[in-house]
Amino acid sequence: MEIAVVGSMNMDMIIHADRIPLKGETIPGSSIEYQPGGKGANQAVAMAKLGARVIMFGCVGNDTAGKKLIKNMAQYGVNTEHINILEEIPTGQAFITVGEKDNTIIIIAGANNYVSKEYAKNNHREILKADIIVLQNEIPEETIDYVIRLCHKHNKTIVWNPAPARKLNPELLEMATYLTPNEHEAQVIWGEEAADMANLLPRYPGKLIITRGEKGVSINTNEKGIITLPAIKVEVKDTTGAGDTLNGAFCVGLSKKMQELQALEFANIAAGLSVQKCGAQIGMPDITEVEKILLTSSLSKQETQAIASN
Ligand code: RIB
Repeated sequence: MEIAVVGSMNMDMIIHADRIPLKGETIPGSSIEYQPGGKGANQAVAMAKLGARVIMFGCVGNDTAGKKLIKNMAQYGVNTEHINILEEIPTGQAFITVGEKDNTIIIIAGANNYVSKEYAKNNHREILKADIIVLQNEIPEETIDYVIRLCHKHNKTIVWNPAPARKLNPELLEMATYLTPNEHEAQVIWGEEAADMANLLPRYPGKLIITRGEKGVSINTNEKGIITLPAIKVEVKDTTGAGDTLNGAFCVGLSKKMQELQALEFANIAAGLSVQKCGAQIGMPDITEVEKILLTSSLSKQETQAIASN
């Protein structure tokens, strides 16, 4: 099974500090580093690290950052041959502050804004060769609209990670097979309704997956109602890219024909493991690391612990 990502690539500038500064405040940082990122690229790398066949669709600039991002993805085994390299347009960038085990991110879209509907149309045959198509919200809305409609028409599995959050077209939401916001994104999408998961999740059974940081991940399954899989206990260094790892690993689970809940458990473990190192992609686990934990904590063995309403 092949998985396609139509999404963003960024060079992340990561600043570590004791905490995230408040509005108007200046604080000292302890270090700065540049690492490959972008939600699209992160999800592609998460999947490749777990052994999946992944093809990346997106744009970078013809600059040092763009070249590094492509080289990095190719090294992990992601197929990069359809990435557009644009003249005169800079590669996307993200400015990330990491402090107190949390982060804030500002993105400058650059070339990601040029992942146009036209580009997607030109690549539609290649996109449709994949069985699972993954999207985020760091590329233009009309491209997402086009890709979701195209893939829905061809009965593809569509995983839509609506990050960063914005109001979603209900028609597209219907067409997506899975929608994977975090709690904050759910609040932007559904407003007050998102405060009460017990009401929100049952509205989208087997579709809506809400990632909840250290609380884990929740879904309303058709058979068992709301299930929350708790995050695994690890020493957290940096949560950047944890959501991307979960999305990527979930798709890998689906591509391996795991049942939805099994795929989510697999993904929840992968995301938990990913936060032990700094940087979005560095901590993403390989398949043996995930399977090792999966063996000792499979759903069937700890069902009562793992399943808690809300
Ligand atoms: O999800 C983490 C990612 O968000 C970072 O790598 C950054 O580039 C932004 O896209």
